Amino acid sequence: MSTLAVVGAQWGDEGKGKVVDVIAAEADLVARYAGGNNAGHTLVVEGKKIVTHLVPSGCTYPGTRCLLGAGMVIDPEVFKEEIAEIRGQGLLQGDELRVSLDAHVIFPFHRELDGLREDASAAQTIGTTRRGIGPAYEAKVARRGIRVRDLLSPARLRERLEHNKRALEPEFARLGRDREIDVDALCAQAASWAAWMGPMACDASAEVLDFVAAGKRVLFEGAQGALLDVDHGTYPYVTSSSTIAGGVCTGLGIGPTLVDGVWGITKAYTTRVGAGPFPTKLEGEAGDRLRDAGGEYGATTGRPRDCGWLDLPALRLAARRNGLTGLVVTKLDVLACLPKIEICTRYADDLDPGRDGFDEAAPVYEAVGDWAGGPEWGERVSKARRPDELPAPVRRYLDRIEEATGVPITMISVGADREQTIRLSDAF
Ligand code: GDP
Ligand code: IMO
Ligand code: MG
Repeated sequence: MSTLAVVGAQWGDEGKGKVVDVIAAEADLVARYAGGNNAGHTLVVEGKKIVTHLVPSGCTYPGTRCLLGAGMVIDPEVFKEEIAEIRGQGLLQGDELRVSLDAHVIFPFHRELDGLREDASAAQTIGTTRRGIGPAYEAKVARRGIRVRDLLSPARLRERLEHNKRALEPEFARLGRDREIDVDALCAQAASWAAWMGPMACDASAEVLDFVAAGKRVLFEGAQGALLDVDHGTYPYVTSSSTIAGGVCTGLGIGPTLVDGVWGITKAYTTRVGAGPFPTKLEGEAGDRLRDAGGEYGATTGRPRDCGWLDLPALRLAARRNGLTGLVVTKLDVLACLPKIEICTRYADDLDPGRDGFDEAAPVYEAVGDWAGGPEWGERVSKARRPDELPAPVRRYLDRIEEATGVPITMISVGADREQTIRLSDAF
């Protein structure tokens, strides 16, 4: 195998950044294919924390090419700041970064629109990250989006900005914004973006094909998670892009025959941030305990994440819709800290989330037998580097996940640090 996709198998924040950072040690190219700076991926290398939003999580390895694909939406202001921050940590010192000419650009008015809409629609709120992601994807599908290549062509850029101004100002006026979209100012701002982004701009599809043709290893990095996918998630409480493995092909402009394997990342429990169905969500103290143990606060917005037990029907759906060939279970150390745990094995009335959706899903739980978690177990799990170093009930819990999903567990994460990893299969 020379390529591997790593995707979120829940509602995001599964630990993709950590897992990509571990596997990227063996990759020559790490390519993001969807989403934007709604993503927040945390890597911990020798105790040092690095948070990426747009830059692929392969950025800690000097010389490893990091590519932002056409399926992404890029806020140049955020991108610039993020690059500076990462460079400040002594990384990305060469010319590792490349950006697709066809990636779409988030302008300040997309961000504003995202926020104004969220504020205006209290009853219907999605709980977005307010980063302008939805409005930028909406412009793309409406065929008035502005791509990186348009930044490099001032006349075309002005024309497209005028088009967006005409399309959006009525809504802005309705939402109470008292300023017009200033096309001149945006053109000037975009010229400064073009000056530093231009040299990174490329045909991302050709870039991937070149690496594969040269026998190099390519890692496709997912953002968000399967249940936030615009087609296959808990619609309309989703993000606006194709987060599942299929998005690798559309987002990078390559065929499905180039994806050799797909690993889905799942926490040992479940979290979600933002609105929408979450069948196994724990209310009150139980949820608070899980949140505290796992430090479940958003890497992008700092919002507290809702927490609950592992949801096997949802995970099975994610396994199917991604064609998973491997499963990575993260935050096992966090679960091991809890004295008693449960697992959702099915929904009442044999409701199937693929057919019936999630709105009526009533989880049926089973207690996990012989579980005697606590700080000692947490410590033991976080120090394990081989499966036989895990307490037997923890191993049985993992077996159960494998059995229920029909997907082999290929990696286990027992702590945030790169080193706190149990590897069971080769990535490439
Ligand atoms: P991503 O969006 O999927 O990359 O995940 P985030 O980075 O948003 O959230 C995952 C959080 O859990 C981060 O703070 C990670 O540092 C942390 N993390 C990842 N794997 C583990 C693990 O196995 N154990 C613990 N305790 N923390 C982990
Ligand atoms: P990573 O890559 C968790 C959620 C938001 C909201 C919905 C739509 O770190 O796993 P958007 O701003 O995309 O229009 O918001 O999607 N969401 C995420 N939740 N992790 C993410 O990314 C997310 N990206 C978006 O909370 O519910
Ligand atoms: Mg995240």
